[in-house]
Amino acid sequence: MKGDFSFPTTVIFGAGRLAELPQRLHALGVRRPLVVTDPGLLKSEAYRVFERVKGTDWPVFSEVHPNPVEADVEAGARAYRVGQCDGVVALGGGSAMDVGKAIRLLIRRPEVPLSAFDFHADWSGLPPLVTIPTTAGTGSEVGRSSVIIVGGEKRVIFHPALLASLAILDPELTLGLPATLTAATGADALTHCIESFTSPVFHPLCDGIALEGIRLIAEALPRAVRNGQDVEARGLMLVAAMMGGVAFQKDLGAVHSLAHPLSTICGMHHGTANALCLPVVMEFNARRKPGLYRRVGAALGLREPTDAETIERVRGLLSEIGLGPGLSRFGVKATHLEALTEQAYADGCHRTNPVPVTKEDLRALYEQAM
Ligand SMILES: NC(=O)c1ccc[n+]([C@@H]2O[C@H](COP(=O)([O-])OP(=O)(O)OC[C@H]3O[C@@H](n4cnc5c(N)ncnc54)[C@H](O)[C@@H]3O)[C@@H](O)[C@H]2O)c1
Ligand SMILES: [Zn+2]
Repeated sequence: MKGDFSFPTTVIFGAGRLAELPQRLHALGVRRPLVVTDPGLLKSEAYRVFERVKGTDWPVFSEVHPNPVEADVEAGARAYRVGQCDGVVALGGGSAMDVGKAIRLLIRRPEVPLSAFDFHADWSGLPPLVTIPTTAGTGSEVGRSSVIIVGGEKRVIFHPALLASLAILDPELTLGLPATLTAATGADALTHCIESFTSPVFHPLCDGIALEGIRLIAEALPRAVRNGQDVEARGLMLVAAMMGGVAFQKDLGAVHSLAHPLSTICGMHHGTANALCLPVVMEFNARRKPGLYRRVGAALGLREPTDAETIERVRGLLSEIGLGPGLSRFGVKATHLEALTEQAYADGCHRTNPVPVTKEDLRALYEQAM
């Protein structure tokens, strides 16, 4: 047995902690950060909260698309240079945070486009980054990856240098997140915890974090969906989503391979795509590896659960938050299956699925999830 264990990001958590941003930037040596966000956020309650602490001379780049594309990162890097910035504040969900993370690669090496990203190049000395999530889902605030559509496919650009210098988790920023997005992003966090716990790499630290994340999500997600103003549930969800992001440094699985093409080809939200694929993948995995989900079931509050009971509980939780089954309800058609399957198979996440999956398996899983 061997392992590499690393939990490097400083995280500050609590209602009102966003107020510490100016002093924290100062401590990082940042005078003029580029704020990276998306157009939806500019109109949100969260942005009003952010404006209370924002420096008047901080440039704002707000052109990030949901499921961001390479051009977003390039445009953000231009804004950084024009604004003569010396750091990045990424405010938003995974989309804004991932673009904020990746902009720094183009600042460090303007000659290397994202499509030619080379893990082995020297990426030391990226500008400082503060991540401020406004959804409780991706965990990108503490992650080593940036997920960007490059050449028509979701690409997971991975490098430890992408890590944020600091993450600020302030539940006041998620109070206004609509119920549908609360549910979808929360389902992403749940999927991160379940897939990372059951992926086969030896990482008992991540396993412990993932199980506690599952417990917190089962408690807090239905509450946050029912009552967006429940600041305690919002806080627990932010922490649980961050824990999911920490846990999946271990790895993900086939659910994410199925979900990525649903976003690129069918424009589906990443969390929704995960939610609709999670139960069928769990059934597939449990048939081949009986007992795989017992501890997940225990974390969900069941006593001595079977795999079937655990999967039922996950289905129940997803239905309770409005994410019952049916890809076809989201515009996915039989004619999409070929392209979806090709991209899902090319996606790297399923290589760390608890059991191997073939291209035919992926297609069958899509069909079941329809
Ligand atoms: N880097 C990683 O480790 C990682 C992990 C999982 C997912 N992802 C990626 O993250 C992206 C999804 O991120 P997401 O699920 O957070 O959604 P998102 O960032 O795409 O945001 C979705 C929508 O929610 C709105 N929004 C966000 N916060 C809000 C708030 N507080 N109030 C009102 N509206 C708000 C945004 O304006 C946007 O329209 C996908 O591209 C996915 O592939 C990355
Ligand atoms: Zn995800």
